[in-house]
Amino acid sequence: MINGKSPIGIFDSGLGGLTVFKSVRRLMPCENIIYFGDTARVPYGTKSKEAVIAFSKEIAALLSDRGVKLIIVACNTASSLALEEARKVSKVPVIGVIEPGARAAAAITANNRILVTGTTATISSGAYGRALKKLKPGVRVYEKACPLFVPLVEEGWCAKKLTELVACEYLKPLKKKGFDTVILGCTHYPLLQSVIARVLGGGIKIVDSAAAAAAEAMTNLASRKLLNVSGRGRVRFIASDAPGKFKTLALRLLGIKTGCVEVHRF
Ligand code: DGL
Repeated sequence: MINGKSPIGIFDSGLGGLTVFKSVRRLMPCENIIYFGDTARVPYGTKSKEAVIAFSKEIAALLSDRGVKLIIVACNTASSLALEEARKVSKVPVIGVIEPGARAAAAITANNRILVTGTTATISSGAYGRALKKLKPGVRVYEKACPLFVPLVEEGWCAKKLTELVACEYLKPLKKKGFDTVILGCTHYPLLQSVIARVLGGGIKIVDSAAAAAAEAMTNLASRKLLNVSGRGRVRFIASDAPGKFKTLALRLLGIKTGCVEVHRF
């Protein structure tokens, strides 16, 4: 029986979705959470649509069977390619990061020009562009895949000169498009926010889809009267492989102490 004490399920291709986890935890500290990182099959950003759908369905079914009250697809790639399919196998609502991120960007752009950054799969899917155009038909959307950002973050190189050079290479040529808002359309990119802000220059508004998705989750739970408002929520981390590496990187990159990480192999 689902009730307020039931956990929120969050899943990602690996540990990048911990940026969403952190936003959820900050906004709803009383909530119990199960976080699943598909570390055996990461990255999703370079995989085919069929593969991302198959992986996402497996994880959504697993979380649903564990009695979660809501599933957040923290991974932008999975949200772009597999949200509808994940919904089909879940007994509870499933929200992704694309719609919330697009809504936040559409609300703050002043000149109706938005840059979307993400993995190759997210950008090729055009999911952010579709969502933005539905919200604001006149909006101009520019999209840029930045595939080197994920390995740079996972290497812990967020503050290195090399990362800034890579960001310049990807983003500088786009500045002439005149967008005033950029969507960080990948779990890892919030960790590069200061580099991206520096490269794009002052005045650019940065939308972090992780924070937007956490706010949407809260609205969803409140409307279903399933918010947990007392006590400190318990958290369980599950990885599909290499739990030790997950634990180490969670602490190193995001300062999260996971405790024991359970392993679930498909
Ligand atoms: N989680 C992925 C995303 O947000 C980035 C890492 C990957 O490619 O799996 O798109």
